[in-house]
Order: sequence, then C-alpha cells, then structure tokens
Amino acid sequence: MDIKSLTIDSYDSIIALWESAGLPYKPEGRDSREEMKKQLERDPDLTLGAFEEDELIGVIMGTDDGRKGWINRLAVLPKYTRRGVASKLIHSLEYTLRKRGRKIICTLVEDWNEVSLDLFKKAGYEKHEDIFYLSKREGDHV
Ligand SMILES: CC(C)(COP(=O)(O)OP(=O)(O)OC[C@H]1O[C@@H](n2cnc3c(N)ncnc32)[C@H](O)[C@@H]1OP(=O)(O)O)[C@@H](O)C(=O)NCCC(=O)NCCS
Repeated sequence: MDIKSLTIDSYDSIIALWESAGLPYKPEGRDSREEMKKQLERDPDLTLGAFEEDELIGVIMGTDDGRKGWINRLAVLPKYTRRGVASKLIHSLEYTLRKRGRKIICTLVEDWNEVSLDLFKKAGYEKHEDIFYLSKREGDHV
C-alpha cells in the first residue's frame, strides 16, 4: 500500500470512496469539486490517499487553522477495512501536521460512530466528555 498526496484529479474517486464507505459529505458545499479544488491547491500536502496498485482505497483530509490540525472525511473502502489502512493514514497526516508546527491534532466524531471512536482512541486520541461542538451555518448543504 502506498500513501500519496491527492490532487483534484482524484475528485471522482474520492467521492466514490466516500459513497462506498457510507460517509456523509456535502457535495453542494465544502465537498463540491470547486471548493475541494481550492482546498487541494491551497494545502497540497494535507489530503492523502491510500492506494493498492492504482486503486484509491482510503482517504483522509487534513486542515490546518494555524493553531490546531484537524482530521476530516476519513474513510476506507469496505473491502479493505481492518487492515490498518485508516491507522496509517492518520499517522501520515499527523506527521505532516507536526511538520507544520501543529502540536494539537483533533477530529470530530458523531456519537453513534463507535468504530471511528475506537479507531481514534486506539491511535491515542482523548475523548472529551466536557466539550460540546457548536456551529453557525448558512444552511444544511454547506
Ligand atoms: C472508520 C474507518 C475509517 C476505519 O478504517 P480501517 O482501515 O478499517 O481502520 P484500521 O484497520 O486502521 O483499524 C484500527 C483500529 O480501529 C478499530 N476498528 C476499526 N474498525 C472497527 C470495527 N469495524 N469494529 C470495531 N473496531 C474497529 C480497532 O481498534 C482497530 O484495531 P484492530 O483492527 O487492531 O482491532 C472505516 O471503517 C470507515 O471508512 N468507516 C466509514 C466512514 C467513517 O465512519 N469514517 C470516520 C468518520 S469520523
């Protein structure tokens, strides 16, 4: 398995992978081709793909707000799960974010997603019971 930075050329494969994995995403908002193109050009080192031969089997998207690094949209094709693919993607993105100077790396996980919670706990992440996620949005699609 190889891990490589992704460009907008992989957009259709990324969407297909998120669909296969059942990962919710925002095709008319921040995950549209246009928005993703801007993001991938701005931070070409932060969206990584795991490849088996030429097939994209896993994806992880990092963001760096200058204070913290964030992990977003992590997914692995169902037929390749439980082989350590997500763990390797997390590790690779952590390395890149640390090189950028980020000392805190975090992620948001929905409360029902036990698999993802287990994955991040195993990767050394602490779950904060005392923090609520609040947001203000222009609409459900963004
Ligand atoms: C969550 C997801 C990315 C995990 O990918 P993966 O490549 O299978 O994860 P790994 O093989 O690196 O698993 C590492 C650890 O996570 C935990 N884990 C992963 N899948 C699990 C499962 N189905 N049940 C229980 N624990 C699981 C285990 O502790 C596992 O270690 P182990 O295999 O030694 O027991 C993948 O299942 C997925 O794409 N799910 C749908 C999308 C999603 O929910 N993404 C996360 C959004 S926050």
